[in-house]
Amino acid sequence: MLGGRLRQILTGHIWSHCLLIWLIGCPLFLGKAFLGKAAMAQPGFVANYDEGRVPEYRLPAILDQETSQADDFPAAWKVRREEIRHAFANQMYGTAPDSPYQLVCERFESGDSCSGKALRQQFRVTLSTEAGRHTIDLLVFTPKRANKPVPGFLGLSFYGNHTVVPDEQVAITQSWCRASADKGVENHRATADGRGTSQSRWPVEMIIETGMGVATAYCGDIDPDYDDDFRNGVHALFPDHRPSAEQPHRWGTIAAWSWGLSRLLDCLQNDVAEFDGDRVVVIGHSRLGKTALWTAANDVRFAGAISNNSGCGGAALSRRAFGETVGRINHSFPHWFSPNFKQYNLNEDQLPIDQHQLVALLAPRPVYVASASDDRWADPRGEFLSAKLGGEIYGRWGFSGLELDQLPDPDRASVGRVSYHLRQGKHDINAWDWQHYLHFAQQLAAP
Ligand code: GCU
Repeated sequence: MLGGRLRQILTGHIWSHCLLIWLIGCPLFLGKAFLGKAAMAQPGFVANYDEGRVPEYRLPAILDQETSQADDFPAAWKVRREEIRHAFANQMYGTAPDSPYQLVCERFESGDSCSGKALRQQFRVTLSTEAGRHTIDLLVFTPKRANKPVPGFLGLSFYGNHTVVPDEQVAITQSWCRASADKGVENHRATADGRGTSQSRWPVEMIIETGMGVATAYCGDIDPDYDDDFRNGVHALFPDHRPSAEQPHRWGTIAAWSWGLSRLLDCLQNDVAEFDGDRVVVIGHSRLGKTALWTAANDVRFAGAISNNSGCGGAALSRRAFGETVGRINHSFPHWFSPNFKQYNLNEDQLPIDQHQLVALLAPRPVYVASASDDRWADPRGEFLSAKLGGEIYGRWGFSGLELDQLPDPDRASVGRVSYHLRQGKHDINAWDWQHYLHFAQQLAAP
């Protein structure tokens, strides 16, 4: 069962031998407790960065025999797609609730931005259930010269709307923020010192100049990014749906962020006349890149997805266990995934799914996976392989998959229906990445 991983451990350093003994001994003492399994992955963790020590693995097939031989492929794929999506939901990200809620999207501010080139609008999205109310602020920029609704991007930020542009009119989030002096966070609260501190990640003017729009919200407005046992953020709206030992398949924070992105799309589709809600690409960097892929996999209203440096739990193949691993991510961020995902700590071979299938769930919509050369923690090769293998299915709709046979040299982008690039440099999203995303998004231009 642990074949590939055991081999890897046996060829490792001395600590690995201790880990092996511990691994064999532990299950005797730990019952089925998920926390026990999470802890198993952590002590002595050293990331593998050696291709020679990537375990042998067999990936689960995207198409089973029945689907691949079906006369009516679209109908068969619909069934198979649901099977795979359910497996991701139940075993990894967790299922979102399907109980009722009310959504109201109200504009509370608007004005000119980008030296008069853009219209800035701010909306307060209020979600209510019997359990309470929750608000998320949505910031939207659209080109002023557009005379019809524009396609565009929707993505979450790490520290709030006010960090995206140095614009005094942008409301500062009241939600909990991760500690960061650079982003002007004091006692986990955002301050005006954070204005514009993430602007290198959000080239709003460049986007506007191509005739597209961009909308963003703060991930912490949807669900604060810390482990509170799934009680705050939008989790609080659905207390009966909280993950627990009895319900280990329910939504973690990434699934909550995804659900929130779908609610923001509701707002773009129904309440923002300047945005064409049928041509929205969901974009995200890192943990929010994992979120972007899962969002588009669940919500087919998204016209496409861009995953920037999303790594483990995003585009990177889990079975490669290169850089960050399933066990490590579950230990460091126990709230991101469902409790069920912890079963796969040091046990990736038993996963019923792998991340190339997540890319396939987007087919035939445009998808872009991007890596950075120094970002080995996110496993660029594993990200590339997901785009390559997941993209193979696009042929069924007459589109080419990824037009690269191997991991490209840095700073070469392959842009098409299935796109990939390896940017030279560190874990980040910058203007170079966006230039290629803008090129990619041209395929959403009105015919
Ligand atoms: C950590 C984490 C990654 C994540 C990243 C981020 O490095 O291990 O999985 O992608 O944070 O979101 O910045």
